[in-house]
Amino acid sequence: MAFNDLLLRSINGEKVERPPVWFMRQAGRYMEEYRALRSKVTFLELCKSPELCTEVTLQPIRAFGFDNAILFSDILVPIEPMGVQLDFNPAPVIANPVRTLADADKLREMDPEKDVPFVMETVRRLVKELDVPLIGFSGAPFTLACYMVEGSGSKNYEHIKTMMHKDPDAYRVMMEKLTNSTLKYLQAQINNGAHVVQMFDTWAGVVSPYDYENFIFPYVKHIADNIKGAPLIYFAKDSFSFFDIIGQLNCAGMGVDWKTRLSDADARLGKGKYVLQGNFDPVQLFGSKESIKETALKILEEGKNLKGHIFNLGHGILPPTPRENVDYLVKIVKGEV
Ligand code: CP3
Repeated sequence: MAFNDLLLRSINGEKVERPPVWFMRQAGRYMEEYRALRSKVTFLELCKSPELCTEVTLQPIRAFGFDNAILFSDILVPIEPMGVQLDFNPAPVIANPVRTLADADKLREMDPEKDVPFVMETVRRLVKELDVPLIGFSGAPFTLACYMVEGSGSKNYEHIKTMMHKDPDAYRVMMEKLTNSTLKYLQAQINNGAHVVQMFDTWAGVVSPYDYENFIFPYVKHIADNIKGAPLIYFAKDSFSFFDIIGQLNCAGMGVDWKTRLSDADARLGKGKYVLQGNFDPVQLFGSKESIKETALKILEEGKNLKGHIFNLGHGILPPTPRENVDYLVKIVKGEV
């Protein structure tokens, strides 16, 4: 079959026949194929097996005909070799959180080919097998730091905000190591064949605009300015209030969550500056077909006035999502229903 390059043409700003479509976390527990495979191994065993990761990456492409694949792994897999004791339960837990300058000093920068060779092997296998583009990914430094410092998900992010404002040296040492590791990790995925890379900044939205500007953006900017050879998409959830700052980032694509209209996002980032990706509310996939279609058509309409539009959800798909609604939404974007 001919290679489907729709995503690549779209992210490069070319006029395309329809928006490419993929969903964040498109491989996972909402699919019975995934649950069957996952019942035999732990999540980390899965993430460390190129054979199983390749299979799980391909599952949603076969089932729904998405226009691209996304590497199957987790944003936290590459921080384990930096020196954190990581487990999934199913949410991530870190037994030795980083809290002091001494803890930050002990962290080791990650070397992708040596520390996570299984990820690089998965990328190479996928690029050989796929007839659609492969998106590689990483967490953004701050989002990774949230797990490193809090030790798990968090309500108030008090440990990392305390570190930021009380022990800025510890924060800086940790963030510099995370930034260098993330840049090397994304670059290694590109060097092994990933066509596009996405950086997930899921927790960027928990800070004030002042802190985003001083303590998060400079690290993201360093990565965007130095990555070479493939387009970068940055997804900072809940961050519309600092889209003016994010609009200074040198990258091709911007993710938009479901709280913001694509047209408003575009205006605040700088009109026509980026290809936008989003932004159907993942929870609305629990609703009726009529409601799904009505909102999807509104988003597709807004997308027509952008530099480019990659149709996606506004955040990751949830495990209870009815499979037939996923199929239906993909078909709407493809103009098949
Ligand atoms: O998009 C894809 O299909 C690729 C796979 C992928 C996973 N995690 C698999 C996963 C990607 C891109 C991620 C990113 C990720 N992981 C983010 C950023 C995006 C987002 O959703 O905000 C974050 C914050 C994490 C951290 C993480 N990993 C959490 C909070 C959890 C538990 C919540 C949950 O969904 O259960 C995970 C576990 C995880 N990552 C699972 C999968 C399929 C479930 C693990 C299982 O099978 O038990």
